[in-house]
Amino acid sequence: MTASSQSVEPFDLVIFGGTGDLAVRKLLPALFHRFLDGQIPASSRIVGIAREALDDAGYRAQLREALIGICDARQLDVFLQQVFYRPLDARKDEGWDDFAAFIGGQPEHIRVFYLSTSPELFVDICNRLGQYKLNQGASRVVLEKPIGRDLASANQINDAVGKVFDESQTFRIDHYLGKETVQNLLVLRFGNALFEPLWNAGHIDHVQITVAETLGVGHRGAYYDRAGALRDMVQNHMLQLLCMVAMEPPSSLAPDAVRDEKLKVLHSLKPIDDNNAAQLTVRGQYRAGVAEGASVPGYPEELGNNKSNTETFVALKAEIANWRWAGVPFYLRTGKRLPSRVSEIVVTFKPVPHSIFNADAGTLSQNRLVLRLQPDEGVKLWLTIKHPGPGGLRLRHVPLDMSFAEAFGVSQPDAYERLLLDVVRGNPTLFMRRDEVEAAWHWAGPILAAWADSGEAPRPYTSGSWGPSAAVALIERDGRTWNEDSE
Ligand code: BG6
Repeated sequence: MTASSQSVEPFDLVIFGGTGDLAVRKLLPALFHRFLDGQIPASSRIVGIAREALDDAGYRAQLREALIGICDARQLDVFLQQVFYRPLDARKDEGWDDFAAFIGGQPEHIRVFYLSTSPELFVDICNRLGQYKLNQGASRVVLEKPIGRDLASANQINDAVGKVFDESQTFRIDHYLGKETVQNLLVLRFGNALFEPLWNAGHIDHVQITVAETLGVGHRGAYYDRAGALRDMVQNHMLQLLCMVAMEPPSSLAPDAVRDEKLKVLHSLKPIDDNNAAQLTVRGQYRAGVAEGASVPGYPEELGNNKSNTETFVALKAEIANWRWAGVPFYLRTGKRLPSRVSEIVVTFKPVPHSIFNADAGTLSQNRLVLRLQPDEGVKLWLTIKHPGPGGLRLRHVPLDMSFAEAFGVSQPDAYERLLLDVVRGNPTLFMRRDEVEAAWHWAGPILAAWADSGEAPRPYTSGSWGPSAAVALIERDGRTWNEDSE
């Protein structure tokens, strides 16, 4: 156990969708890492649930294959002794009595029900849990995003889940909030006296948030084609990042203190709708090209040659209509099959009001604060300095560069490691409250409607490019460019 990790109380964690991509690729590895760090009490149980007719041994064998690369087999086998499997279908009675008997017991025992399934099943699962009184005492439910596909369906889900679990038991996960650099943004902003006085429209020129992926949709096509980049990334992850940059200082880290401030930002977003979506948004869809040195098919081919109107890329210009941010654009872009995997927030400060330097000293660049979420987590503050040595006064733009890996020499824990244990501890600070999800849909809905009304297809872009050229035009029209460091 590292100095900072403390063991949590014994718990049962039940993962609905236990054989799915998220469970196998993210949740189980995250739990295994916490186990290796000594944080998971030996009496805790992790229970995978899915429809497949597997038993404990079969499920363990599947996980063993997926996790064997992480560390030596002996430790993995000890961990897997804490993992169980129950086949269940939320829409059929079979197996539920047995499951309830297995997981029932003392209501004060911590039971976490993680719904890593399609949102259409959330209500059925919660109703079953309620029927078997598994919602009582220290039970918690975790809802994976997306919650619904618009405001109306999100409300329906939240209402139905709310009949079984109250808000304090409901953890709506957005794994971006568990990323180290995102939490570091809080510390950077509110743990240093340096930034806050400058953190406003008077001093900040604009903010860019980029979440670029090299992967395509792969075998997630069935889900993704119904969602698209706006629902999959912007409505949740990117808006949460925007909130962390833009919110007022909360009075403490108490869950509602932070979430109240984020909510105010969401409420202050200027509407994007039929009137301005064409100017403020760009949607794209990838075509065949190259990703990480290999030829890759386009999105329609990945879907089995189906024509689709779903966007795999979005760039947009958002604005926050309040005193702190009036007139400061927040440029957001995200896409699949882009040239590199990079997520970062770039805060560009205004130029100095007057230059005292001769033209031959070089140009003055604007200060930039770059928060790199992944890969190579770190913070860079770009400053102008004098190029050292003789030869006259020459200006150089250089970063004060803090790479977390170099500075601390430890690998950063995956976001899910932190968030899963926060659920066990019952700390909802880094989870979305119901009203935040609603406010995010309230803003995203009219964008989706405007796209649908326009009848325009997403613009094609070649895999391995930075999206449609219109995304470059979106920012260059304003005399700015996407941060070249990330490209
Ligand atoms: C998920 C999306 O929420 O986030 C995926 O559904 C996306 O489409 C993923 O690939 C990106 O997460 P990360 O942590 O790899 O940046």
